[in-house]
Amino acid sequence: MRRLLPPSEKHVDAAEAVAADRTPPDDRPWVLLNMIASVDGAAVVEGKSGGLGSDADREVFHQLRGVADVILVAAGTVRAEGYGPARPRAEVRAARVSRGQAEVPPIAVITGSVNLDWSAPFFTDAESRPIVITTPEADEERLAQARKHADVIALGGRRIDFAAALGQLRARGHEVALLEGGPSINGILYGLDLIDELNLTIAPSLVGGDPIGILRGVALPERRGLRLLQVLEQDSYLFLRYVRWP
Ligand SMILES: NC(=O)c1ccc[n+]([C@@H]2O[C@H](COP(=O)([O-])OP(=O)(O)OC[C@H]3O[C@@H](n4cnc5c(N)ncnc54)[C@H](OP(=O)(O)O)[C@@H]3O)[C@@H](O)[C@H]2O)c1
Repeated sequence: MRRLLPPSEKHVDAAEAVAADRTPPDDRPWVLLNMIASVDGAAVVEGKSGGLGSDADREVFHQLRGVADVILVAAGTVRAEGYGPARPRAEVRAARVSRGQAEVPPIAVITGSVNLDWSAPFFTDAESRPIVITTPEADEERLAQARKHADVIALGGRRIDFAAALGQLRARGHEVALLEGGPSINGILYGLDLIDELNLTIAPSLVGGDPIGILRGVALPERRGLRLLQVLEQDSYLFLRYVRWP
């Protein structure tokens, strides 16, 4: 990949591209969101994101998973994308272990309904026990099922207390949380000002129609400023790294 910002003549690979100082606050992990969208802002194409991707984007996706202590994803995306368990490649596992991280990060699913497929490989083949983040008021039978297949973090009342749930992840030693969407949970967590970093891939295509963007559903109480720290390009795809600003 070509690094356009900061300017560099040197070729960078995806592992170098995702490396950064991510110092978490005391009470929760550093939360980095990774999303892809078309040039006209569509994050969903025919119900999925995959149609937008490229080899380089998939590589960045896997390398970002490599730096994460925990992966966060909402249930809508798990269902739409047929999520499987995390399967880091050997060199990613080795790099994680050398940094003192678990070989495989757990995936935490955010759900209100707790309506998840417990027989799916996501749960049955996970190397790192999955986590279910929900509310204490979720259906009791489903919560009991969830406890058989995952660690359950049920905090808040009728609604999930996301700050407290992230606090639990931090208490478990997770310093970097990779949020993989989708747009609804992104909107909620940006609304709560709980996202520190945005890695946005711009796919070189136009989708048209009424695109669903990378955030939806929640009008932010105030505009969130972003600072652009890195721009990479490969095959006309742009890889943008932003942090909150100011
Ligand atoms: N372009 C990209 O990079 C990208 C990345 C990810 C996903 N996507 C696409 O985005 C689409 C899915 O996004 P989406 O916005 O429809 O759904 P989503 O954000 O993935 O998931 C929404 C679900 O999350 C749970 N949830 C969200 N907020 C909650 C809250 N406050 N309390 C409790 N549960 C909560 C609910 O699960 P329950 O229904 O179980 O209660 C809700 O139905 C898919 O088409 C996917 O392919 C694109």
